[in-house]
Amino acid sequence: MSAVNPGSTVSLCIMSGKGGVGKTNLALNLGLTLRDMGHRLLLMDCDLGLGNLDVLLGLTPEKNLQDILGGEVKPEDVVLAVEDGLDILPAASGVPELVEMDQNQRDSLFEQLAGLVAGYDFLLMDLGAGISSTVLALARMAQMRIVLVTPEPTSLTDGYAIIKVLNAKFGVRDFCVVVNQASAEESRETFQRLNMACKNFLGFELLHLGHVRLDRTLTQAVIHQTPLARFAPECPASVDIRVLAGRIARYRSENLETIAARRALKEFLPGATARNT
Ligand SMILES: Nc1ncnc2c1ncn2[C@@H]1O[C@H](COP(=O)(O)OP(=O)(O)O)[C@@H](O)[C@H]1O
Ligand SMILES: [Mg+2]
Repeated sequence: MSAVNPGSTVSLCIMSGKGGVGKTNLALNLGLTLRDMGHRLLLMDCDLGLGNLDVLLGLTPEKNLQDILGGEVKPEDVVLAVEDGLDILPAASGVPELVEMDQNQRDSLFEQLAGLVAGYDFLLMDLGAGISSTVLALARMAQMRIVLVTPEPTSLTDGYAIIKVLNAKFGVRDFCVVVNQASAEESRETFQRLNMACKNFLGFELLHLGHVRLDRTLTQAVIHQTPLARFAPECPASVDIRVLAGRIARYRSENLETIAARRALKEFLPGATARNT
């Protein structure tokens, strides 16, 4: 297996039913933590209406993902290096018509991205909240799906809704759950509630990947436009994110053969079927 085997890229998406639960911060800090562990990552801002990954980093990108859609710009020209081993693909903000790309636009975008993505160990996608067709298409293609919830009942019902829709539309049955702003115990309780609903009404169970504690340091990091993993690497939330990163890295190493056999590139070609359909 060569160092840059196109088949060994793991695509992972972070999604939630509602906004403001912590997706972008989790994506960014997971990305930095996996990078610190020696992995090469592309962090893609897939929140096409309200992209703000760049804001958390204090960057003002000249080009973004939407420019690739126009066809004049190559993905390589949009990518920004955050640190050695971690690149981002920024998205535009405040362009609502791009939230609902049609099938042709999506196919063309994925085709253009396939070559770029193949050079990384992980493609980490920060999805917009909710169940737009673009969110569903990206979530369907990802090899790992993280549903981010908080212990609030509304977050739980919205998380369940997104799982239900992906299952009903595409037959997807494998989801990881991360409970944000929660203690270990709250996380277990929240997970159990969500898992029970899936087991009883959809007929499959979820995987509990872990939790991130409620940590005011994160708010400070956001204000300073510095990622938490750099602002306070030893604070409780950073410690929890390291545990999550370790589990994700293990998933990749344990499944490398299956992943390589499936050729990640194919995942981004039009008509590629989801793993579980
Ligand atoms: N673990 C946490 N502890 C404390 N505050 C958090 C935590 N996770 C998220 N937040 C707060 O929620 C806000 C929104 O987070 P963000 O990552 O932008 O959410 P999303 O991308 O889901 O809309 C952050 O700016 C932060 O203030
Ligand atoms: Mg966000």
